[in-house]
Amino acid sequence: MAKKLFIKTYGCQMNVYDSARMADVLRPLGYESTDSVDGADMVILNTCHIREKASEKVYSELGRLNRAREERAARDGGRMVIAVAGCVAQAEGEEIVARAPFVDMVFGPQTYHRLPELVARASRAGGVAVLDVEFPVEAKFDSLPEETSPPGATAFLSIQEGCDRFCTFCVVPYTRGAEYSRDADAIEAEARRLVAAGAREITLLGQNVNAWHGRGLDGRDWRLGRLIAHLADIDGLDRIRYMTSHPRDMDAELIAAHGSVDKLMPYLHLPVQSGSDRILAAMNRQHTAEDFRRIVDRLRAVRADLALSSDFIVGFPGEGDADFAATLRLVSETGFASAYSFKYSARPGTPAATMENQVPESVKDERLAGLQQLVDGQEAAFHRSKRDATVPVLFQSRGRQTGQIVGRSPWLQAVIVEAPETLIGAIAECRITGIGTHSLHGEVLDDRRRPETERACA
Ligand code: SAH
Ligand code: SF4
Ligand code: F3S
Repeated sequence: MAKKLFIKTYGCQMNVYDSARMADVLRPLGYESTDSVDGADMVILNTCHIREKASEKVYSELGRLNRAREERAARDGGRMVIAVAGCVAQAEGEEIVARAPFVDMVFGPQTYHRLPELVARASRAGGVAVLDVEFPVEAKFDSLPEETSPPGATAFLSIQEGCDRFCTFCVVPYTRGAEYSRDADAIEAEARRLVAAGAREITLLGQNVNAWHGRGLDGRDWRLGRLIAHLADIDGLDRIRYMTSHPRDMDAELIAAHGSVDKLMPYLHLPVQSGSDRILAAMNRQHTAEDFRRIVDRLRAVRADLALSSDFIVGFPGEGDADFAATLRLVSETGFASAYSFKYSARPGTPAATMENQVPESVKDERLAGLQQLVDGQEAAFHRSKRDATVPVLFQSRGRQTGQIVGRSPWLQAVIVEAPETLIGAIAECRITGIGTHSLHGEVLDDRRRPETERACA
């Protein structure tokens, strides 16, 4: 009988991608994915270490899982394997084993292709946790099996992993290791498989995705702009996105691609973190606020309807009122369609954690509220700017209410319409009729893609 696998994913899209790949690796061993802990034979927590709150969640979740496991054993004698993967496993492997000794397996992001071996070792280990947090010399991507998890209309594709930038606040270079780029032919092959399996949109992923440079199809070193132009030739692939990028790696070719590749969506997540040059330098971001403004100008010059989103950290060590005011100014001048703001969280082992002038929590709270108010206003204004517009929507799922389906605009806005479910997986022109806080309402204008029968009785 098939065994049930439940993977709970925290953190970024790279973890979402990795969770699907772990399911692919375990499928040949007889594990079928399920969406709850109930009755699961194996539970994997795919964890995130980026902020303190994120990593502390793991320990409370592990406590709950241990109780579920005991209940299960008492109920039907079944055994539930508990595993911790992802960035907390990488950063605190030993500590997890010490704090939660009932855990069976702890393994880092570079080891997923070795899961079959780990599972076999865990079943022999008899109550002793199996730990694997090596950065193996062989490349994980080359050793993973081809993906068998069905993609939806939108799919993620990891093209780059790791980071060499070493921003002083960030754990990623330590949890994911050095930058590694896959070759263009492997990426193209995976993209073609995803499209053949039904994906219409692909988001290229990497911790620092625009640092991607891999062997191109002509044997030369390609950069991201070239790769995107190449993938745009795939028939049936309608939308391309990429994330997360660093301002320093926005090269001329990539900026130009925003103007010349229609399938590249006019929405870019470009984290800037702060508007103060002093703080940007202390963060080791290696660019100024003015550099960021210039990049945005160049992008908008080639693609006028480009919308931007970003990440901000408030309360980085040494951030004074004038620095924070510079951040607010940058936000006001740039105009974002969306933005994520975080309170600085000191992470063990990173240079900023031991910097002087740590900012008090109360100041961070105040700044966070101020920044969020500003970006919420910008987000609302951006949504309102689409009222009465006609936009192509890629439908992805059913809506909350019967008869509704939900998709995304080119600018990643959720668009809710009343239309038959047969439109899921298709792109249709919609007129935007209403503006909500986090979504738009619309009506389908173009029903060419509905099956004949639907149209006949409409
Ligand atoms: N690779 C991406 C982002 C990685 S983490 C980049 O370079 O931008 C996602 C976001 O989390 C970051 O952009 C940053 O805003 C936030 N973040 C990272 N470390 C943090 C910390 N120690 N405290 C608070 N926020 C943090
Ligand atoms: Fe972290 Fe900076 Fe690398 Fe982004 S670029 S992953 S913030 S070190
Ligand atoms: Fe978190 Fe690791 Fe992603 S720390 S944000 S899951 S790279």
